[in-house]
This record gives sequence, structure tokens and C-alpha cells, in this order.
Amino acid sequence: MLCIGLEGTAHTAGIGISDETGTILANIAKNYFPKEGIHPRKAAEHHTSAFPELISEAIKKAGISFKDIDLISFSQGPGLAPCLKTTSTVARTLALSINKPLIGVNHCAAHVEIGKVKTGAKDPITLYVSGGNSQVIGETLGKYRVFGETLDIAIGNAIDKFARELDLGFPGGPVVEKEAKNGKYIPLPYTVKGMDFSFTGIVSDALRKKDAGASLKDLCFSFQETSFAMLTEVSERALSHTEKNELLLTGGVAANSRLKEMLEIMCNEREAKFYAVPREFAGDNGAMIAWQGIRMHKEGLKQDIQNTSVRPEWRVDD
Ligand code: ATP
Ligand code: FE2
Repeated sequence: MLCIGLEGTAHTAGIGISDETGTILANIAKNYFPKEGIHPRKAAEHHTSAFPELISEAIKKAGISFKDIDLISFSQGPGLAPCLKTTSTVARTLALSINKPLIGVNHCAAHVEIGKVKTGAKDPITLYVSGGNSQVIGETLGKYRVFGETLDIAIGNAIDKFARELDLGFPGGPVVEKEAKNGKYIPLPYTVKGMDFSFTGIVSDALRKKDAGASLKDLCFSFQETSFAMLTEVSERALSHTEKNELLLTGGVAANSRLKEMLEIMCNEREAKFYAVPREFAGDNGAMIAWQGIRMHKEGLKQDIQNTSVRPEWRVDD
């Protein structure tokens, strides 16, 4: 069984093709990364022009033809409404034109599940960190539950905001990681409330300290140390609370080596296994949507085309 998955929640138009074991036959994307940050309507226009070519290219790359596809899946939410609408329209058109079933999937669940299938994690606590989301997720009693999450902006967004103010370009994550290499620690607000965390205070304090003369490398280093320690603390408490012994890191920020290192140390100290999603599947990608489509289809979930309207606020615990 083959599923073609369409990802289009924000800046990435991605197409992936997965078989029923999670083997990925194709995974390609075109990104909209404007310097000034993402504009929802322009991102949607980007996806409109990117998808047709991406679909043909993915089919070619997989060495299959349209008649080999058994299922179409797409990112139904959460995300930016204009982008979701474009993606769902393309997915519906494809489903109608090749006369195959269509299924809308939750983008956050897809990040978790591609991480599981690609690392072999069985029942992890997942730290899902990206530009739009920061959540600590675990499955209990057959349901995804959110044990902790950001109270304001996502960690990726916080890094991007900080980087943009300092003219480091977009996305900020890779640049901040590079700058942080030889920095010294300057205290920044460490905000964990119960199991939730907040990042806006770090952004504004770091910018204030920049104006007061702190060096870029010290600020990048301290930004990472402080915010990643918060994420590590909450992940550890979720492991302890659920008595799970696997931690999975996923989402765009999972590309960060320092975050991986901190989580790995914590996991080693409590004899838990640490898994990080391979870089290729860390950021938004079509492969994860295709794989989640297969999983839902295998569970017998079906959708009429009438029920495929977008869900911009769709939470993973829904
Ligand atoms: P979602 O829709 O799941 O919220 P997204 O649209 O933000 O995802 P992703 O590709 O999952 O897209 O994540 C992008 C984020 O990852 C950006 O904020 C970017 O700065 C961040 N990022 C990428 N590489 C790194 C890195 N090396 N270190 C830290 N952050 C990174
Ligand atoms: Fe994402």
C-alpha cells in the first residue's frame, strides 16, 4: 500500500510517499523562507505554485505511477489557515482525479509518529519543538496527551524572533546554534510554571542585554542554555510522572546538537533511552504526513471529501 502525503501548514510545501511499513520512497519540499518572516497569504501562493511540480517529481523519484497510489493524506491542521486551505484543495483535487481515498491528518501527531517509526521508539514521551509548537506529548490510555507546553510562543519562533531583531536572517535556529559555539553564560529569565514554559521573557531580556553591550555569541549561547534547560526539565518530569523510559525529540528544533546533548545527558542519568528524529524528518515534511495517513487508514479511519475542511486550531490531544 502506498500513500502520498501533502504537507502545507506553514512555510513548507512538502510531498512524501510512504509504504505500509514506513519506508519512505520520496520526500521532497519547497520552502518559503522570506527574510522578514512568514506572510500567510504569500506562503499559500507559494504552495499553490509549488505543489503540482512537487507531486510529479515525487512520483518520479519513487519510481511509481499515479495508478500505484492507494491513499492520499494531507496536513489538515494545526497551521495557518490560508496554507491549509491550499493544501487541502490540492489534496482533494488529486483524490478526485485519481479516484482514491483522502484522509486529513494532524500535523503534530505526524511529527511524533515519523519520529517513532524512524528511530524505533515504542512508547516515548515526545518533546516536539518547532517554529509553531512546543509540547511535551505522551500517549496514555490510547490517547495523545500534552503534559507540558508553551504558554506563549514556540521555542523555534522565539529563536527566530531574537535572530530577526539582530539581522541574523530566517530561520534563526541554525545561525544562533553556530554563534553559540564559544559563548559564555549570561543569566536570562528561566520560566517554568508547573509543567509549562514560556519564552517571550528570554527574547526581550536578551535583546535588552544586546542593547546594553552583551556580545552576540554570549547571548546566543545563553539563549540556548536557558531555554533548552527549561525543555529538558519538563521532559524529565513527564518521563518521571508517566514512568516511561524513552524520550523522543522531534520537530524543526530537533536539528539542534546542543539540545540533543542536554536531553541525552538527562536520559542517561535516569537510564532512559534517548531518540532524536533523523534530520531529514525533523522539520516539516511530506513523509510524516504520508506515514500518518497509512497509520490512520490501517486503523480503519475514513473521511468523506465533505469532512476534509481545514482545522487551523486542531490540537494533538483532540
Ligand atoms: P510546526 O508547524 O510543526 O510548528 P514549523 O512550521 O515551525 O513547524 P519546522 O520545520 O518544524 O517548521 O521548524 C522550523 C523551526 O526550527 C524554525 O523556528 C527554525 O529556526 C528551527 N530550527 C531549525 N534548525 C534549527 C537548529 N539547528 N537549532 C534550533 N532551531 C532550529
Ligand atoms: Fe511542523
